[in-house]
Amino acid sequence: MNRYTRIAGTGSYLPPRRVTNADLAAELAARGLETSDQWIVERTGIRARHFAAPDVTSSDLAVHACRQAMESAGVGPADIDLIIMATSTPDMVFPSAACILQNKLGIAGCPAFDLQAVCSGFVYALTVADSMIRSGVATRALVVGAEVFSRILDFNDRTTCVLFGDGAGAVVLEASDQPGILATDLHADGKHVGILCVPGTVSGGQVLGDPFLKMDGQAVFKLAVGVLEDAARATLAKAGRTDADIDWLIPHQANIRIMQGTAKKLKMPLDKLVVTVDEHGNTSAASIPLALDVAVRSGRIRRGDTLMLEGVGGGFTWGAVLVDY
Ligand code: ACO
Repeated sequence: MNRYTRIAGTGSYLPPRRVTNADLAAELAARGLETSDQWIVERTGIRARHFAAPDVTSSDLAVHACRQAMESAGVGPADIDLIIMATSTPDMVFPSAACILQNKLGIAGCPAFDLQAVCSGFVYALTVADSMIRSGVATRALVVGAEVFSRILDFNDRTTCVLFGDGAGAVVLEASDQPGILATDLHADGKHVGILCVPGTVSGGQVLGDPFLKMDGQAVFKLAVGVLEDAARATLAKAGRTDADIDWLIPHQANIRIMQGTAKKLKMPLDKLVVTVDEHGNTSAASIPLALDVAVRSGRIRRGDTLMLEGVGGGFTWGAVLVDY
């Protein structure tokens, strides 16, 4: 009997503080920087984002999303035998946020680790979990993307600080004799490290280098549309499907123009594009599972639908996962 991976449940969580573009514009004005709701909406599609309170960590956000995903899958902590947390904003240098999350969820013993692929983190984590489930290493996995990107934003740099938000999204994956995850496709090209990075680190008891996010937005934009189309096509080819088979496109939520450009290249009507960037901003590794959960809970995505999940981000990393939900 073939062994596949299916999504058994989804969950998500946003910290309560919602910051509109107007709120942010007022905060930046106090620093002598000019921005506007109109500029942010026109260039990105973002209207608001959520910021976590200063004492709230990525694992705190992840706990809520994971509990919701477990509830929707009808499973409890004792049923989970693998935890992968995709994050670039972990609670500490070490141990991993996944271990901290595991303890908060009341789970012990199963493997738990962080996966760092920035905004592609969730599709990377899904792919790793799928491999571990299909090979029999795991049977029921929690895969969560959680970020507190507000911690690495330079609020004196209007070109980046208006783009990102905090949040978490999770899925419970389980072994099944029916697919499930149909195909995956992952890539990285480290020569683009400099176009999107947080170049600082901790050394000798001090922060060395710049601990804030740096981005060449136009370079990222140009790369993103091309690689997202390539990854989607590669995934479809591996699964023996065509773009006409996709019911819902759930790309990384960074910029509405990149998302719509990708949908167009896949000849998908825009009402089949799941959009949460307007309310969440770019939540990096959390953006895809957050969007997935929002669309599932609103009743748009139903069992049997075919979903194309696509990530792109720092590294440069990119990838896609095609799944029958
Ligand atoms: N408010 C007002 N004006 C601004 C702002 C702001 N917040 N930010 C920049 N501007 C100004 C610039 O200074 C510039 O002014 P100038 O013409 O006088 O020099 C003008 O607006 C245009 O700036 P551009 O950078 O050319 O604007 P662009 O249309 O490229 O949009 C953006 C910028 C939104 C960042 C876009 O390039 C983008 O979305 N890139 C992709 C980002 C992305 O997808 N990231 C995903 C990966 S994220 C991850 O992996 C963590």
